[in-house]
Amino acid sequence: MKIPDDVRKDIPLTGEVIYFDNTATSLTPKPVIEAMDDYYLRYRANVHRGVHRLSQMATHRYEESRKAVADFINARFEEVVFTKNTSESLNLVALGVEHLFRPGDKIVTTPYEHHSDLLPWQRLARMKGLKLEFIEGDNEGNLDLSDAERKIKDAKLVAVQHVSNALGVVHEVEEIGKIAKEEGAIFVVDAAQSVGHMEVDVRKLHADFLAFSGHKGPMGPTGIGVLYINEELFDTFEPPLIGGGTIEDVDLNSYKLAEPPERFEAGTPNIGGAIGLAEGIRYIERIGVDRIERQERKLVKRTVGGLEELEIPWYGPRNLKKHAGVVSFNVPPLHPHDVAAVLDERNIMVRSGHHCALPVMKKLGINGTVRASFHVYNSLEEVETFLGVLEELAKRLRG
Ligand code: ALA
Repeated sequence: MKIPDDVRKDIPLTGEVIYFDNTATSLTPKPVIEAMDDYYLRYRANVHRGVHRLSQMATHRYEESRKAVADFINARFEEVVFTKNTSESLNLVALGVEHLFRPGDKIVTTPYEHHSDLLPWQRLARMKGLKLEFIEGDNEGNLDLSDAERKIKDAKLVAVQHVSNALGVVHEVEEIGKIAKEEGAIFVVDAAQSVGHMEVDVRKLHADFLAFSGHKGPMGPTGIGVLYINEELFDTFEPPLIGGGTIEDVDLNSYKLAEPPERFEAGTPNIGGAIGLAEGIRYIERIGVDRIERQERKLVKRTVGGLEELEIPWYGPRNLKKHAGVVSFNVPPLHPHDVAAVLDERNIMVRSGHHCALPVMKKLGINGTVRASFHVYNSLEEVETFLGVLEELAKRLRG
């Protein structure tokens, strides 16, 4: 597949707007939409609940989707649980491990997490009387790994994002995971901004839990997410949601849970969403995740180079090897929303504001940023157009 051209052909919206808001959600290629249409038009039925042929086919396709996800992140089939999104996955982890904590136990995370990988730990810490500690890091988002070693000592759980949605920094998750495992801590990875953009291998990362959404990197639909649960934790992790489909046997006063993954998926799941997500993953695999990463890095390099030339301040690591396809910046004295509105007038979609990462903004002493975030269908020509609009704006502001 030729990138970005062939991908752009599969996504008609790329011909209409410059879409640089991929960290919030990505555009959907036609094969993903067709796979979901196929389910809704040809074999629309519930899964695991019927002997009729439509239900059999829906079940087959749903479980085939789980296999596609599992292979993509190097997990086992049983270790993949479908959820609504990253936020739900991380909340489920916090609820399902709650019973393991005693007052005074320690959770370690970072100052760069977005709210969904922070609030569940804050609440857990408050409810159980735990210590919540943060690995030190600088204003570019670089973590201090020797501080990580110090803080993780005696920690019971460590939760770290793979890529920051606000700063674009790629954290040393593999190294941190190794330290966490040496200390016997549960290691949780928020991979919302990495899956589909770079290689994610749950085993290499030493992850016990790993969360991501279908609608971002994997180019699937909204409303479907994944929680990877390391099989070693199957019996320790208490499913927070139980009911339809999660049991092997039930009496009036007791129940016996089904084997994973059923035990972790209560109620009718998002069947069409899982099928769409798997098709997105197959699409990504046809392109090759390494090529996606290279394309995004090329776009980042030109973007930050252009911002430097225009003397527009940008955030995130100066070491571009650690910089994923997310560039945050500001055009003072304008508010980030005003810059985003100017870009929108010129058909360029970016996100502005705090990006659901208020502690990051507070650390940097700013009220928000403008954020351009890329996927494989974005082109260098689009970046040049974007920089051209910023140049005009900067000139106007500087008189
Ligand atoms: N976390 C998503 C973003 O950064 C919603 O846009």
